[in-house]
Amino acid sequence: MSAPLLETRALCRNFGALAAARDIDFRLEAGARHALIGPNGAGKTTFVNLLTGVVQPTTGAILMKGRDITGVAQAERVKLGIARTFQINRLFRRLSVLENVYIAVAERVGAAPSMFRPAGVRRDVVDESMQLLETLKLSGDAARRISELPYGRQRLVELAIALALRPEVLLLDEPAAGVPSAESHIILDAIDGLPRDIGVLIIDHDMDLVFRFAERITVMVSGAVFATGSPREIAADAEVRAVYLGRTGHG
Ligand SMILES: Nc1ncnc2c1ncn2[C@@H]1O[C@H](COP(=O)(O)OP(=O)(O)OP(=O)(O)O)[C@@H](O)[C@H]1O
Ligand SMILES: [Mg+2]
Repeated sequence: MSAPLLETRALCRNFGALAAARDIDFRLEAGARHALIGPNGAGKTTFVNLLTGVVQPTTGAILMKGRDITGVAQAERVKLGIARTFQINRLFRRLSVLENVYIAVAERVGAAPSMFRPAGVRRDVVDESMQLLETLKLSGDAARRISELPYGRQRLVELAIALALRPEVLLLDEPAAGVPSAESHIILDAIDGLPRDIGVLIIDHDMDLVFRFAERITVMVSGAVFATGSPREIAADAEVRAVYLGRTGHG
């Protein structure tokens, strides 16, 4: 068996007396559609922060395709192909949608980051940026400033920026959080349409989304992995239902 795309071994992170991640053994396979669920404060965001290098583990290891990346800096992990979207917006609000995506593509290909630089606009970078916007059905908004966009579309731009990195791993922490329900379908459609070769780990409290999207589900409780399995196995797990799913009436 080949090494998984991402793997953690006995990963732990303490915040003072609180064990936010306890002994997490986790595997994300290439091209996976994997969901991470669990109650508020279970440690899901902390786990993503550990994977991306935002937070350092207290003990344990993180491997990408068999290579130990535990000590690799955040920016380097992005270059290795680990992308994420944030629960909070990190967009340049006064720039246009196209400019925001241009900057991300330019960074990946090593071109001048700004469309206003004397060196001029790189046509190939514009083309690739427009293509991405097309994929996410955002082309019509290319010239609009981020600040003029409805929130749901801003989240889509975040997704475009993550995809501009051509990641192998995409970590989505509550991608539709704060998006009004009238708009949330555009996010869900975009997630359904993600390239199949990208391994996706999604965190969400919306069990309709999770059970529609995921082929594998990991349940976290109090910093530890409580269960991992197929959606069918997770839905049928009486203990999982008792600690989390029971409230949502799924399965
Ligand atoms: N930087 C930090 N310093 C101290 N405690 C933290 C820090 N980050 C997270 N925690 C704590 O770690 C625990 C796990 O938090 P985390 O945000 O990972 O949970 P979560 O599963 O993402 O919850 P939610 O579903 O509400 O987003 C919580 O008790 C939280 O208060
Ligand atoms: Mg969280």
